Amino acid sequence: MSETNPKHTWLNGHIVPWADSTIHVSSDAVLRGASVFEGIRAYRAGDSDDLLIFRARDHMKRLFGTSMRVLRIDIPYSADQLIEAMADLLRANEVHEDAHLRVVAYFDEVTWGKDADATTGAYILAYPRPRGARYEKGVRCMVSTWRRPSENAMSPRVKASANYLNSRVAMVDAQMKGFDMPILLNESGKVAEGAGQNLFIVRDGVVVTPTKTQAILEGITRDTVLRLAAQLELPVQEREVDPTELYVAEEAFFAGTAAEVMPIVEIDHYPVGGGQRGPVTRQLQAAYDDLVCGRAQAPDGWRVSTYAKTTVA
Ligand SMILES: Cc1ncc(COP(=O)(O)O)c(C=O)c1O
Repeated sequence: MSETNPKHTWLNGHIVPWADSTIHVSSDAVLRGASVFEGIRAYRAGDSDDLLIFRARDHMKRLFGTSMRVLRIDIPYSADQLIEAMADLLRANEVHEDAHLRVVAYFDEVTWGKDADATTGAYILAYPRPRGARYEKGVRCMVSTWRRPSENAMSPRVKASANYLNSRVAMVDAQMKGFDMPILLNESGKVAEGAGQNLFIVRDGVVVTPTKTQAILEGITRDTVLRLAAQLELPVQEREVDPTELYVAEEAFFAGTAAEVMPIVEIDHYPVGGGQRGPVTRQLQAAYDDLVCGRAQAPDGWRVSTYAKTTVA
């Protein structure tokens, strides 16, 4: 992925030139990875020049309600302020095509313990992010020997920056072995998720995904896909998934904000289905596309407009 640097970031309440967007090397964010974040997408509206930020409110709910809550980070900005800041930043960077945002809450000074008067901050990055070829072509995966961290070590439910060292080591290992992406198991040896995506398989026509207690991030795209599958009247199961089920599935795909609905066409050299994007995956991709671009009806507040009028609903 090549991301050219945009002109600005949003840092602690201000639109700041890229080169001046710094936090100190002594901060706990830098030293120990003490931050949490969200990855969010904005899509060019199907019928106008607007950019629609997808499920911003739900991303803020996970940031404030799960990640910041578990790690006890308070920041001096509300969810509504951060949503407005996302739209401000997209406008400042003059982004008009599909984009990816990162919203980060971090610990600044190195302080630990319950009485520590920790200083914190927040920043936002916004990059143009066109869809890649993998959306159609799919990815080749391996089941990694690296496991997702267990619930009582550091819960994958918390979108903590430091959790991505686990993702990184699995991703690098997979790529060094000639695959595109890893699939990680949990401590019990059941299928958990990808390095930065939730995982679905199709077995006997049923759309199956691991439950929320299988050491996964409770993905917003996962939730969207489950809702779309229900709308399309596809049978769905959230349950434990055995690794060998990956080898016999009719279809498999990742679901994530960055990945969207991404076909998996091979796992450990077993072709999935015909080794190509399958019909259920295609159906869900089309429905997802209609939803994010504003062509299909969405629940209230799912799409925040950037240019028409910033509405926080
Ligand atoms: C480890 C992990 N799992 C799953 C997901 C998918 O979550 P979402 O759909 O909310 O982006 C992500 C992406 O943020 C992730 O990093």
